[in-house]
Amino acid sequence: MRLIIDTDPGIDDALALLYAVASPEARIEAITTVAGNVDIVKTTRNAHHILRHAALPHPPPIFQGCATPLHRQPVYAEHVHGEDGLAGQYDGLPYTTEHGAVEAILRIARQNPGEISLLALGPLTNVAAALQADPSGFANLKQVVIMGGAIEPPGNITPLAEFNFHADPHAARQVLRSPVPLTLVPLDLTRKAVLHKETLRAWTADRTDSRARFVTALCHRYFHFYSAMHGGEFCFLHDPLATAIALDPALARIETLRVEIETEGEMAAGMVVRDLRPHRETGCIVNVASDCSMEEFFHRFEERVVRPRGADSAESYPAMTQ
Ligand code: BDR
Ligand code: CA
Repeated sequence: MRLIIDTDPGIDDALALLYAVASPEARIEAITTVAGNVDIVKTTRNAHHILRHAALPHPPPIFQGCATPLHRQPVYAEHVHGEDGLAGQYDGLPYTTEHGAVEAILRIARQNPGEISLLALGPLTNVAAALQADPSGFANLKQVVIMGGAIEPPGNITPLAEFNFHADPHAARQVLRSPVPLTLVPLDLTRKAVLHKETLRAWTADRTDSRARFVTALCHRYFHFYSAMHGGEFCFLHDPLATAIALDPALARIETLRVEIETEGEMAAGMVVRDLRPHRETGCIVNVASDCSMEEFFHRFEERVVRPRGADSAESYPAMTQ
């Protein structure tokens, strides 16, 4: 599958990128960054850090995108992902910033009509900006797969809304109205992708390589946040689950819903409103992943993120800052 990954790393974005680059079925044409979990400079530098860590022979290009949502002030989630957005792991190494995420999405889509899937793991600002700038160019995308939205409350940033949709509700509304086929992987499902500290410990026991250390450091920050909130040592793998389903839709059960996105209100902005009224033509018809084989997902997650080929030999990866 040929894809562009639009992302706001972010701990679970980092895990999702590690999943994608280790997936034999994925051909990543570009990574585009957007402000979300942290500001745009940090999400971009984190994307570079993650690719450096993955040490790919031919890494995809990274294009920096929108710094602010379409019509509102940014909302960040540093309280979840750490001040650097990467659980304190950012290595500070130099990189070159290439701008033009929106243009890159459109260029790659136009050059490859019907071939490119766009996987969106952050607020939908870049995606909406691409749609607004060139609707017919955007229509060359094969599909958009989105981690976002809470079909049923509760949300995770407000009682009603999920973070990615709340951070840019206008973008979410526009993108969901686009004619390109869409699949949502909502919070309702990603909250079932629960990684327990014990599981990670079992996976990484007796390992001292940099991949095991990096993934452990990322997850421990996440465990810390979730234990303060939910009282257990676990975290939710939101973006990795969306990535797994984008790469293999057969993992999930998909249903079709008619929805609309609320754009206003301190708590309601970004809320997914289901239109259950009969005989209506309003709202957007979207595919929603409503169930998934979690056992298979965790098997793939371990294989690709925690134990990719070569990870056990520390020399295969650049040394990481601890
Ligand atoms: C989403 O919000 C972000 O904090 C995560 O990276 C994920 O994309 C979950 O609501
Ligand atoms: Ca994200």
